[in-house]
Amino acid sequence: MSVVILAIESSCDDTSASILVDGKILSNCVATQDMHKKYGGVVPEVASRAHQVNIVPVVDTAIQQAGLSRKDLSAIAFTRGPGLLGSLLVGVSFAKALALSLKIPMVEVNHMQAHVLAHFIDEPKPSFPFLCLTVSGGHTQIVLIKDYLEMEVLGQTIDDAAGEAFDKTGKLLGLEYPAGPIIDRLARLGTPKYDFPEPKIKELDFSFSGLKTSILYFLKKQLKQDPNFIEDNLNDICASVQNRIVSILMGKLKKASDQTGIKEIAIAGGVSANSALRNALKSDGERHGWNTYIPQFQYCTDNAAMIAITGYHKFLKGEFVGQEITPMARYAM
Ligand code: KG4
Ligand code: ZN
Repeated sequence: MSVVILAIESSCDDTSASILVDGKILSNCVATQDMHKKYGGVVPEVASRAHQVNIVPVVDTAIQQAGLSRKDLSAIAFTRGPGLLGSLLVGVSFAKALALSLKIPMVEVNHMQAHVLAHFIDEPKPSFPFLCLTVSGGHTQIVLIKDYLEMEVLGQTIDDAAGEAFDKTGKLLGLEYPAGPIIDRLARLGTPKYDFPEPKIKELDFSFSGLKTSILYFLKKQLKQDPNFIEDNLNDICASVQNRIVSILMGKLKKASDQTGIKEIAIAGGVSANSALRNALKSDGERHGWNTYIPQFQYCTDNAAMIAITGYHKFLKGEFVGQEITPMARYAM
């Protein structure tokens, strides 16, 4: 009999549902909440209300697109955390209610583990052990993956995440939220001619708050001399900021590879959609003899397919949870 998993992701501002059958993704439906743009960031209360509106149609669409019906489901996987508590609560409550009514088991999933396991949706798949740089709006981690569900965080940010560095820089430049994809696009038209300092952070940890401050002071100084500085040099500023963020990330990844001797290297999370980071991974990979892995675009930013593949591996191990399960805003992997 086939294993059919419905997965639900609602940790931040995207409501997503996916259907996986015997390890293959048949549908991955994402409803993005555009209303946060005008606030310059995700408003938690607004996000959870939008999840409530979106969750039923998103789940129904995912099931329909897979050509299945609710009675075909073997189990429901859902994101338990980390994330915004109100947002997580919608997905977890929905999963519990549906599992109860269909009398099927539930699997809880750690969102950060799922970003890593997005690499097992398509070919080529990394082999164990491998290193994954997981870079999103909330997290920046270098993870050692020994097996599907056996992971160790080797280093992480001590303040802002890489995605936040993009988004907060965008705010200083007057760009819409989320600014990461906009900076990516503008940077392609510019030259990285401004030099922002590289933070000196121990071992495999990261810090991005100093970079944000140095960009702020740089802009203040330039604007004093030329009030049009940002408009006239936007592409070059974006290219310079992106260049520094990418060099920080790639520097630590190289260090992690040197320290562990591992040459299977992956990137994951929303910021792995960044074209400069993807190019840097490819070119550094060729130079250092790494096998590199980048998920398909749609599996980089938040999606339920990654929850489905993680749920599938937990399902195979019989790791089920009961109705007493609660979401966790902070959830170490
Ligand atoms: O993984 P994700 O969708 O959500 C979280 O779990 O946080 O990541 C969202 C982050 C945002 O900070 C967004 O600006 C960033 O990923 N991002 C990018 C790009 N696409 C998304 N950053 C840089 N370049 C991109 N192309
Ligand atoms: Zn994420």
